[in-house]
Amino acid sequence: MHLLSFSDYSSDQANSLLNFAVDLKSNPEKYGKPLAGKSIVALFEKPSLRTRVSFDIGINNLGGHMVYVDSQGEPLKKREDPKDVANNIAQWAHGIVARVYEHATLTEMASTNTVPVINALCDMYHPCQALADYISLKEVYGDIKGKTVAYVGDGNNVTHSLLILGVLLGCNQVVITPQGHEIDGNIAKKVANMAAQQGVDFEISNHVGELNKADVIYTDTWLSMGDDTPLAQIKDKFMPFQVNESLLQQAGAGYVMHCQPAHRDLEITGELMDSNKSLLMRQSENRLHAQNAILCHLLSDINISQ
Ligand code: CP
Ligand code: NVA
Repeated sequence: MHLLSFSDYSSDQANSLLNFAVDLKSNPEKYGKPLAGKSIVALFEKPSLRTRVSFDIGINNLGGHMVYVDSQGEPLKKREDPKDVANNIAQWAHGIVARVYEHATLTEMASTNTVPVINALCDMYHPCQALADYISLKEVYGDIKGKTVAYVGDGNNVTHSLLILGVLLGCNQVVITPQGHEIDGNIAKKVANMAAQQGVDFEISNHVGELNKADVIYTDTWLSMGDDTPLAQIKDKFMPFQVNESLLQQAGAGYVMHCQPAHRDLEITGELMDSNKSLLMRQSENRLHAQNAILCHLLSDINISQ
């Protein structure tokens, strides 16, 4: 079993994982050291603060051991086929956490079916982030079903995972991006189908003025890792999509979210980041708990549905 995206999860599975993560966070002693004697290899083709540190400390808290492999110099596949990397790691370790440029690198490693592969961000998805985000919303609201999350900014990996998991958990979704920076077309279709099945709303727009109702506004960097477009080239196009106090008021939103790293006074105002409407540090804290829940689910015999 792997976690590459939440696309193959049912609504029940998504809810069980969320509830388990909340319980694991509140009652860690109930679960002991479920990764005792286990080693996880964490491969990173891109930089990281939150993901790297929270996986390392989280795995340690669960009784396991993490080995960090820095692949930032060159893509993994340039040196060795990802399948061979996975097959080798499986000789010594019990799981792989990987942050990669191409989703295909993850599917190739997972196709060996040797050890679980966990997506720590790729070009298409960031599932660990999304689980942390919905843990955060559950802590704030209790019941998140029927809440509306509006994503404003560049349609990217974080947006995709936020949408997929959010729809499975019963949250309405609004996505507002500048023209030419929309979410992936196939994912948009998939999310629209999933939303119809779950009975939740899913709206896409290029007009920030159309945002008239949301409980939470979420944003992310305008330029993701690996995108070398100069900021000056896109800044004017994106500036009207900045998440600021006036946008929160326009939408009647109570909270702002951002996966970080954030760029103060670009995609979000520094004032809002530091305000009591900011869920940013809660999201960051919950990265560890989200990932520990995923690790327990994939690498221990804990039944998360109970
Ligand atoms: N949000 C997130 O994944 O942060 P890092 O890139 O620092 O890991
Ligand atoms: N969309 C961003 C998220 C960083 C956590 C990126 O891929 O760089």
